[in-house]
Amino acid sequence: MSIEQIRQKLESIGQSQVLRFWDELDETGREKLLSQLQAMDLDAIPSLVDEYVIHKPRIALPDQIEPVKAYPWESSDPLYRQARERGQQLLRDGKVAAFLVAGGQGTRLGYDGPKGEYPVTPIKSKPLFQVFAEQLLAWGKCSGHPIPWYIMTSDINDGPTRTFFEKHQYFGYDRSLVRFFQQGMMPAFGMDGKMLLSAKDSLALSPDGHGGSLRALRKSGALEDMTRRGIEHLSYFQVDNPLVHVIDPLFLGLHDLTGSEMSSKTISKAHALEKVGNFCIGDGKLQVIEYSDLPEDLAKKTHGDGSLVFNAGSIAIHALRVSFIDRLTAAGTDLKLIWHRAEKKVPYVDPQGTLVKPESPNAVKLEQFVFDAIPLANNPIVYTTLREEEFSPVKNAEGADSPTTCRRDQIRRAARWLSESGVHIPMKDSEPDCVIEISPLFAINSEHLKTKDLLVKKIVPGQRIYFG
Ligand code: UTP
Repeated sequence: MSIEQIRQKLESIGQSQVLRFWDELDETGREKLLSQLQAMDLDAIPSLVDEYVIHKPRIALPDQIEPVKAYPWESSDPLYRQARERGQQLLRDGKVAAFLVAGGQGTRLGYDGPKGEYPVTPIKSKPLFQVFAEQLLAWGKCSGHPIPWYIMTSDINDGPTRTFFEKHQYFGYDRSLVRFFQQGMMPAFGMDGKMLLSAKDSLALSPDGHGGSLRALRKSGALEDMTRRGIEHLSYFQVDNPLVHVIDPLFLGLHDLTGSEMSSKTISKAHALEKVGNFCIGDGKLQVIEYSDLPEDLAKKTHGDGSLVFNAGSIAIHALRVSFIDRLTAAGTDLKLIWHRAEKKVPYVDPQGTLVKPESPNAVKLEQFVFDAIPLANNPIVYTTLREEEFSPVKNAEGADSPTTCRRDQIRRAARWLSESGVHIPMKDSEPDCVIEISPLFAINSEHLKTKDLLVKKIVPGQRIYFG
């Protein structure tokens, strides 16, 4: 659309304020603002504003909310042996790709740069991106087939992310297997529903949520690329959790054998009101109900033995069929994931052209979440993993889910793996009294570690030791 067409469109939807400084802008500024507006679905703005900004959407909870029956962590059921084999076969046949979503803003951590750059491991301070790259390299080697790796970024971190990979020679990964693509951006709205400017030549934009990945996979051509490579399943994970098993043959095998279009891992909640989404069956459909939406009496409901009835926490690890994403995003299909509304402090340029930094929330940001696709999937399943094995995200600068707790959990897991391989671990106040790091290139899980001939049989108190 030309600027004239955009101007008319903006007038018709009551958003012409975003061109308020147009006449003052130089060529570069005009191009920037125009391209932001061209990338946006302006026709959708009025209903979004009405539904999600001016009015707070009423969360329509299902009438019937029941707990989900998740596949257990381990089982002697022959299905588990078959699933493990199927998962390994899928990897050998090159039918699995890794999918990392790394387009978020990481505001809570407050790190100046893409979160994947954050030095996270206890001894080598490896960045998150390297932890994933090394796991994927190891799995590629194990299965005899390299694993394509799709990485979603956003306008706020795409350039720096690519530069970081270049600077580190892709951490040894074959660069032809790595494909970056960008997700969409959404404007922030003032409480009156007007789109805000962050500068005279720029809308106040932020990434459209990890749910935007489905659209972005299609739009960027990544989906087509997957089809061309014969990829059938994506192993989906987030950038903030270095404990994640980026590839898990058992999980992938269960997902494939059950005909699930979208599968998820769950862990037992730490307590009734833990701030994680809850896997539930709502009116017969598997879905995630956010902690803030699950009625407290249900969240606190227990079985006779005191265990929680709604105990399946969501940790944002999924397996998705490529054909599912293809179906959801096919031309003419209206992918209707709901938008989640958050009131935030968003700096903006006022009508006089002055940059205002608000002290309290002044704007509404909208995001879509990938787990809202689960009810759209056929035969979705949930598989149980263990918190200590697979979940310790770096969300906050300090306190819970911080670099400190994540480092502690990496050491605990390494100690457990080593102990399962017969290595003596010194303990103090119930914590390993040592600093241990196991490179994914050395061992990708406890079972793998058991196959190694370990020279170290005993770790001494206070020792720092890297297995690489
Ligand atoms: P979070 O929900 O933790 O959001 O993202 P965030 O933006 O990274 O961090 P805060 O809330 O500002 O502190 C969970 C995962 O989803 C990705 C993130 O990069 C992270 O891997 N994500 C989130 C996206 O890829 N795009 C988004 O729009 C939002």
